[in-house]
Amino acid sequence: MSSLINVLQVPLALYIHIPWCVKKCPYCDFNSHTLPHNDTLSKTINLDATDQTSSIVDDHFHLYVDALIKDINDQLPLLQGRKISSIFIGGGTPSLLPITQYQRLFDHLKSVLLLCDDLEVTMEANPGTLEHAPFEQYLQVGINRLSMGVQSFSDTKLEALGRIHNANQAQMATQAAKKAGFKRVNIDLMHGLPNQSLQEALYDIEQAHQAGATHISWYQLTIEPNTVFYRNTPVLPDDNDLAKIEEQGCEVLNQLGYQNYEVSAWVSAEDQQCRHNVNYWQFGDYLAIGAGAHGKITIADDSVYNDFERGIYRFSKTRLPKDYMTYEQYPKTVGFAPIAEEDLNGEFMMNALRLTSGVPLNLYSDRTGLTTAKIKPIIKRLQQQKLLVEADNLIQPTDLGRRYLNQVLQAFL
Ligand SMILES: C[S@@+](CC[C@H](N)C(=O)[O-])C[C@H]1O[C@@H](n2cnc3c(N)ncnc32)[C@H](O)[C@@H]1O
Ligand code: SF4
Repeated sequence: MSSLINVLQVPLALYIHIPWCVKKCPYCDFNSHTLPHNDTLSKTINLDATDQTSSIVDDHFHLYVDALIKDINDQLPLLQGRKISSIFIGGGTPSLLPITQYQRLFDHLKSVLLLCDDLEVTMEANPGTLEHAPFEQYLQVGINRLSMGVQSFSDTKLEALGRIHNANQAQMATQAAKKAGFKRVNIDLMHGLPNQSLQEALYDIEQAHQAGATHISWYQLTIEPNTVFYRNTPVLPDDNDLAKIEEQGCEVLNQLGYQNYEVSAWVSAEDQQCRHNVNYWQFGDYLAIGAGAHGKITIADDSVYNDFERGIYRFSKTRLPKDYMTYEQYPKTVGFAPIAEEDLNGEFMMNALRLTSGVPLNLYSDRTGLTTAKIKPIIKRLQQQKLLVEADNLIQPTDLGRRYLNQVLQAFL
């Protein structure tokens, strides 16, 4: 790594993974596991568990938070004098973790980390676990942004997706969160669902707007290996229909006042952008705690962390919750490996060019430590092909470039 990187100028975020769900969705390949004692858990979220059953679940979560606390303590040398700018609690289903455990976790984080004054703290929530959600209490522990995993506002589609909630619960949960005082609420929607018509896809967007979403993540359903849908794929809209859904969906989002700032992300106002995700896309650093969590970190000095040399590293945590929680017996980090210099171009561009507004070229050097000499000819060629524009030291994909983003990225590999 060249000495171009000043680590103090690389923003630092924190990702926290909560790896359990009430039930595994048939399309999902995230690191999510059905909670042990799931029968007990289902009762607990319906608030009719006995004291004994809920205490089994509580003990489980208590041990997991113990492991998260040890994990963050191990990573403290990686801060290198920096404050944390955002925290993202993802899953799995983070809304399963009791508020008392969030309180413990945040008390600890506040005691060992320096946090920015305008810290953004997002939690992913599943509307099926929020019937009696303590929204005000989430705000009190410091969570100030919610990301609702809604997927669709059609009961038939939700059933086909194996979701544990219906459309009404999704509407009610989002509205309740807003009423409790959340000013930043994302709704995750998927399109290209089994047998989905254009009208059904557009209806979902309108419903998300009506529920008060200030941010919409609008993903096309992908069929991932190792999922139930991969082995038994339902009938999906064909390419022609998908193209219509894409085109008209973007139009409706625009008409409803949402601006597209990243391939799949839309906001009602600029200050509603997810700062945590923008940090990923701008190749910032992030610590990561929790089973299967992935981090990226710049090490400025050979003596900072376990004798790792200066460089930019990716690391990941052991995936299985039971392994992660038995810290004494198992290493938590399964990989801590430098990003090779020849891969930095591709890695940086793969993230940065997802942003509609593009990326300042000086950020390339600030984050990778490389000069722009090597990428200048590539940028020039892509400009000639009308896939990129460069002006005032900013590179930005054109509409055509955004449509053929993979081709643009290939040029940098
Ligand atoms: C890690 S999930 C967490 C959300 C939460 N667990 C939930 O489902 O309610 C984040 C989002 O990724 C999207 N997602 C998951 N699997 C997907 C797939 N196969 N194709 C497209 N989007 C997917 C869904 O919109 C989901 O809400
Ligand atoms: S609730 Fe979310 S994380 Fe869990 S299985 Fe479903 S999509 Fe995956």
